[in-house]
Amino acid sequence: MAKAIDIGTAFLVGAEMRGGREVFTSERDAFFSMPNEDFAEEMLSKAGAFYIAKKDQLYVVGEDALKFAQVTGQQENYRRPMAAGVLNPDEEDAIAMIQVMIEGVIGRASFPGEVCAATIPANPVDESFDTTFHSMVLTRFLEGLGYEVKIINEALALIYAENPTVTAPTGESIPFSGIGISFGGGMVNLVAAYRAKQLVAFSAGRSGDWIDQQVAKVTNQPVGRVIGAKEKKLDFNNIDPSDRTLQALDIYYEDLIKYTLNHFKVQFKKQSATFDDAIEIVIAGGTASPPGFIDKFKRVLDKVELPIEIKNVRMAKDPLKAVAAGSLIAAISQEKKKMAKAQKEGAAQPPGAEG
Ligand SMILES: Nc1ncnc2c1ncn2[C@@H]1O[C@H](COP(=O)(O)OP(=O)(O)OP(=O)(O)O)[C@@H](O)[C@H]1O
Ligand SMILES: [Mg+2]
Repeated sequence: MAKAIDIGTAFLVGAEMRGGREVFTSERDAFFSMPNEDFAEEMLSKAGAFYIAKKDQLYVVGEDALKFAQVTGQQENYRRPMAAGVLNPDEEDAIAMIQVMIEGVIGRASFPGEVCAATIPANPVDESFDTTFHSMVLTRFLEGLGYEVKIINEALALIYAENPTVTAPTGESIPFSGIGISFGGGMVNLVAAYRAKQLVAFSAGRSGDWIDQQVAKVTNQPVGRVIGAKEKKLDFNNIDPSDRTLQALDIYYEDLIKYTLNHFKVQFKKQSATFDDAIEIVIAGGTASPPGFIDKFKRVLDKVELPIEIKNVRMAKDPLKAVAAGSLIAAISQEKKKMAKAQKEGAAQPPGAEG
């Protein structure tokens, strides 16, 4: 059966079918490095941590990395292989570590040529890099694990998972048509699609990490504390006006939504896209998780005035897994096509030709 992996700046999420059900595996996209001296390795092994030893260093991988950073207070040793949606160019161990993590999440192919769909962001509108290097490095690595790789845009995967629709004047409901927006850790990804075909696709390098950094700056606090408030206390229906951190989070969230929609307006016009009928917007991603996000989004949307009519804005059933779930749909569909083609070719062979 096919598999999928959503390779995010903050989390890696793997998906596969087991016993007729979707099963997800998630890992924090981070590692913690420490010198391999004294009893360090014995200690990690006893603690049951996921780690690897390389030269004179030990690397604690995934969720355990965050725990070690918190326990030791050594923030500088807490490192992330990705930044702004792609391999982090400032991190020398980025490629080696992401490979360890990807293999940890989805493992090797169960048979040669098993399809694996992997998410890649669209090229950013506000940064100078493109996603070619990132995409090629990951494709080669996944091929090395035995997979046939299908690259899929993160926001298009969201559209596959959530199936937004357009209602035609005839009353017909047109599937996989609308806008998908993933508010992740490193970036926002947006796709506008009609019948599952991409009309407009872009990413913008501002999302959760950007909010954390801005709020930390204006409130003069460590980023870690801002993240704690954001993930545990932030509720857009109920912002305490005396809480500076929540106030600042509210302001930067508003700015992020406005920034995203303004870029959409420009890209929609530039790519001469049109929608004749009112469309749906579906939203996912960790940054969209705080209670009240959809209402906040709608309030900003009212002010921005898009060139299209919006009939509904809704959150994905599971905002952290929707992209992986949509990628799995794409992978399974590709695998089915492959099998059908192989069967047809087999049937077309004259008797005895195979031997
Ligand atoms: N409950 C929550 N409230 C607010 N923010 C949250 C919550 N849970 C996670 N986040 C934030 O969501 C972000 C991670 O989201 P997500 O897992 O969708 O990103 P990603 O897919 O790894 O990144 P990207 O798609 O940008 O490459 C982080 O900034 C994290 O702090
Ligand atoms: Mg993501």
